[in-house]
Amino acid sequence: MSNEKADQMIRSSSLEEMSSVDLDSAYGPSGFHGLVRSSNILFYSLFASLGGFLFGYDQGVISGVLVMRDFETRFPRVGGNGDLQGWVVSIMQLGAFVGALINSPLADRLSRRYSIAVACVAFLIGSVLQAGAIDNSMLFIGRFIGGIGLGQISMGVPLWIGEIAPPNLRGSAVTLQQFAIASGIMISFWLDYGTQYIGGIGEGQSQLAWRLPFALRVIPAITLLIGCFFILPFSPRWLVKVRREHEALAVLSRLRKLPENHPIVQAEILQIKAGARFDALTIKEKFPNAKTSAQIAYQQYKELFMQKHLAKRLFVACFLQFLQQFTGVNAIIYYAPKMFKSIGLSGNSVSLLATGVVGIINVVATVPAIGIVDNFGRRIVLMVGALFMSLSHFIIATLYAIYEHSWAEHLSAGWAAAAFVWFFVFNFAYSVGCIAWIYPTEIFPLGVRAQAMGIAISVNWISNFVIGLITPIMLNHIKFGTFYFFFAFTMVLFGWVMFFLPETKGVPMEEMDKLWGGSEGKETADRMARIQNELKCESRNVPIYSKTSSYSDDLDIEMQEQY
Ligand code: BGC
Repeated sequence: MSNEKADQMIRSSSLEEMSSVDLDSAYGPSGFHGLVRSSNILFYSLFASLGGFLFGYDQGVISGVLVMRDFETRFPRVGGNGDLQGWVVSIMQLGAFVGALINSPLADRLSRRYSIAVACVAFLIGSVLQAGAIDNSMLFIGRFIGGIGLGQISMGVPLWIGEIAPPNLRGSAVTLQQFAIASGIMISFWLDYGTQYIGGIGEGQSQLAWRLPFALRVIPAITLLIGCFFILPFSPRWLVKVRREHEALAVLSRLRKLPENHPIVQAEILQIKAGARFDALTIKEKFPNAKTSAQIAYQQYKELFMQKHLAKRLFVACFLQFLQQFTGVNAIIYYAPKMFKSIGLSGNSVSLLATGVVGIINVVATVPAIGIVDNFGRRIVLMVGALFMSLSHFIIATLYAIYEHSWAEHLSAGWAAAAFVWFFVFNFAYSVGCIAWIYPTEIFPLGVRAQAMGIAISVNWISNFVIGLITPIMLNHIKFGTFYFFFAFTMVLFGWVMFFLPETKGVPMEEMDKLWGGSEGKETADRMARIQNELKCESRNVPIYSKTSSYSDDLDIEMQEQY
């Protein structure tokens, strides 16, 4: 779209028209090309994705540490086949479940960016406790506290990226977080592999072999912490939410590399303001007695569950998180060596190598997602991914069922099964691996976005926790049935996306309501029209309401009181 056209729309008599400005095309191309052109969005998103790196690193590092000789000797109930092993892995996910939930009020109150800083501090405390652990309780407490930080990060980083990116790049920018998660997993797999040789893999193994991988993650965590104060800007949407609109405009213009008075920047800031005021006004009109921030937060949570269109979005976001985990990806991430051994790839080095390949494929296959999610849309990418993931599970399960007792004589069947494990990971990485993070960042109105994301991401972690616990049991008892089990969930993912999931590609965040039936009611439409009218006049410096009847004056006071 030309600047003149955008300009003309801003001056148009109806802000309804302006909000339908096709910001997608106004900002230029999507995918790689778009990211490279918006180099600052690329830089900020990559920097914030250090959080994703920490997340992946933490998920990956533990499996290698648990089997290190020195670790096993010091922590016999945790290392090797210790009875507390499952718990030491999953206590981190439980911490993350809590972290994702508590980050919502922090992200609203302190800002998205400072909530990430708080998360880094929790993560650092957890890392130091784990690296220096001298007994089980230190290890468990360290993993739990570190997990809280990770849960916060896993919610705060995509929320922040989703709010700074323009609509055409939102998907690609959030995808960088998945790329960072996958890189963290891969690097920690290989780092464990390398550090186990410090002092030799036998009796003489040094404690550094496992303390070092635990300790090294403080480097990216400290970098991210410093970046939260000196590099990452505030989210312009959060600034508008807390009525720091001048700052919001300045940040937006910096992010878009356009002057503050540029029509595109003006169109976007007005759209953000309209969305924020709409939320605030809705709360004010519906809950006139809610005055304190605690009362308002309570109403917001209540709204999420009681308002049909919000509850629908919450269900969709949570179900997507649940299905992401029940594709079985972490069954592979956590238990790949065990799986590869069970399908006849004998010898430690072969199964470790096969696991290393999982790590590499997971990273490599995330790259195309950066180009495709904003071009082809969320739905089609999810459906193709789900279809191929189901196919992989089905083939692995069937090969397993046929050759269960004769892998040794059918080596090629074992390799075929391994190839389909890799194919599964490939299809996970570009599809639901990324889109499960993108979708919740974009479908909720600003007023409840942080709360909703906290709930959705906590569902991801609790499902992750369940998978971590049930997979070894399933592998021991129902064996090939494990893969039929995950096959069923990938099919559900396919069907659900096909029949129920709305496309969100390129839809401006403030226009999402229309997709979910949020602005259908006459009352709601009237409210939006009044806000739009007021904003339009403000933008031209025309007073429309008398001092006493202006929505923004009332709201200014109300919103400032809240923060
Ligand atoms: C999932 C993680 C998983 C990772 C694998 C993420 O999107 O949330 O649980 O381990 O992808 O790359």
